[in-house]
Amino acid sequence: MSKEMKVMVIGSGGREHAICWKLKQSNCDIYCAPGNGGISQIADLVPIKPDNIPEMLEYAQKEKIDLTIVGPEVPLGLGIVDEFIKNNLQIFGPNKNAARLETSKAFARDFCQKYNLPSPAYEKFTDSKKAKDYLSAKSFPIVIKADGLAAGKGAIIVHNKQEAHITIERILDKKEFGQSGNTIVIEDFLTGQEVSMLVLCDGNTIMPIIPARDHKPIFDGNQGPNTGGMGSYAPIPDLGNDFTSNIQTKLFDPMLRALKKENIEYKGVLYAGLMISGNDFNIVEFNCRWGDPEAEVLIPLLKTDMVSLCLDTIEGKLKQLEWQNKYALTVIAASDGYPQKYETNKLITGDLSDTEDTIIFHCGTKKENNNFYTTGGRVLSITGLGNSLVQARARSYKKIKQIQFDNIYYRTDIGNR
Ligand code: GLY
Repeated sequence: MSKEMKVMVIGSGGREHAICWKLKQSNCDIYCAPGNGGISQIADLVPIKPDNIPEMLEYAQKEKIDLTIVGPEVPLGLGIVDEFIKNNLQIFGPNKNAARLETSKAFARDFCQKYNLPSPAYEKFTDSKKAKDYLSAKSFPIVIKADGLAAGKGAIIVHNKQEAHITIERILDKKEFGQSGNTIVIEDFLTGQEVSMLVLCDGNTIMPIIPARDHKPIFDGNQGPNTGGMGSYAPIPDLGNDFTSNIQTKLFDPMLRALKKENIEYKGVLYAGLMISGNDFNIVEFNCRWGDPEAEVLIPLLKTDMVSLCLDTIEGKLKQLEWQNKYALTVIAASDGYPQKYETNKLITGDLSDTEDTIIFHCGTKKENNNFYTTGGRVLSITGLGNSLVQARARSYKKIKQIQFDNIYYRTDIGNR
C-alpha cells in the first residue's frame, strides 16, 4: 500500500469511525467529511456536509483524493457515486440507481415481488383514502412505511385502525417526512428474529459478511420506539452453520441475477434486514451501506485490508473476505431522551482509551480544548471483543461503566438472548 494514498470517508457516526479505525491499519492518509470528535484523532476532518455533493467533488479533485468511501445513505441517494465516477474519481458505494433498494421502499418491494424474493404482502398508495380503505380487510399490527429516506423513522408499526389512519394522514397529507412521504407502502407485520445480513457486491460476485444482530428499540426487552440501533453483536450463536450459505442461495444469488436483468450495477455493501422464523426468512428492508451499529462489530472482526476491499469492489475483482475467529458486541451510550428530545453539549469524562479488547467508536461527539462533548442522540459505541459472546459482552459493559456524561443512557441487555 502506498503511503501517499489519500482516502476520504464521508459521514460522521460510529460506522464512519469504525471505517476510519480500520483504514488506520492500511497506512494511508485519512480524511473524513465531516467526521466527529473521535474521528478527529485519526483523520483530518473536512467541514463539508454529506449531502453537499458539488463541494465534496470539488474537495476530492483539489486534494487529489485517491479513494472515497461513502458511509451513509443520503449521499448515495443523491448520486455522489455517479458524480465521482463521471469525474474519474474512485468511490466505494452503489450508484443512485442501485441505491433505490434503500431510497425507495416501494421500488424495493416491487423488485422483490417481481423476482420472487421472500417478502410480506404489501400495497403502495399516494392517496390517503385508498390507503385507509385497504386497511379494512387487514389485521393488526401492520407496518406503514414512507417510501423515501426518513432518517430511520419512516417505518411505523401501528396496532389498530385509528393509529393507522393517523399515521397515513401524517405521512401522505401532512407531509411529515416531506417528499419522502409522497408514497407510502403498507405491508404485513413480520414476526421472528431479526438478522442483519450484509454482503459485499462488486457487480458480479457476492461475498458474505458475518451475520449480525441489531437491537433497535430504545428500552431493554425490545420495548419503546425504534432508534438507529442501541447495540449489536456478531456472529450470532443461535444461527445454524449453514445460515449464510442458505441466504446466499435463496436470496443474494437470485438477487444478483435480478439486478443484472434490470441493468442495475450494484457495487458496495448490500444489507438485507431479515426476519427469521424457523427455516423461513422474509426481507424486512434493504440498505445500501454498512449498518450502524453493525459496522462497529463487523469491521473490528474483519481481517481483510479495507483499502484493498474497496478497490477490489470498485474494480470488480472481489476476493473471499477474511475474519477473526472472535465475537464482537457493541453497546450504544446515548443521550437520555433519544430518539425523541435530548440535550447535547455534555462533557464526556472517564476512560475513553481503547484496549486490546475494547474499542470506543464515537457516534455523536466533538472535541474542544482536548475534551469531548456530546453532539447527538447516539454518542458512543463501545465494542468489546472476546472468544465468546459472553466475554465480548462483559468487556463492553465493563468499559461503558467507566465513562460518564450527564444523562447517559444505555440498554443493559444487549446480547442477552
Ligand atoms: N442498524 C440499522 C441500520 O443501519 O439501518
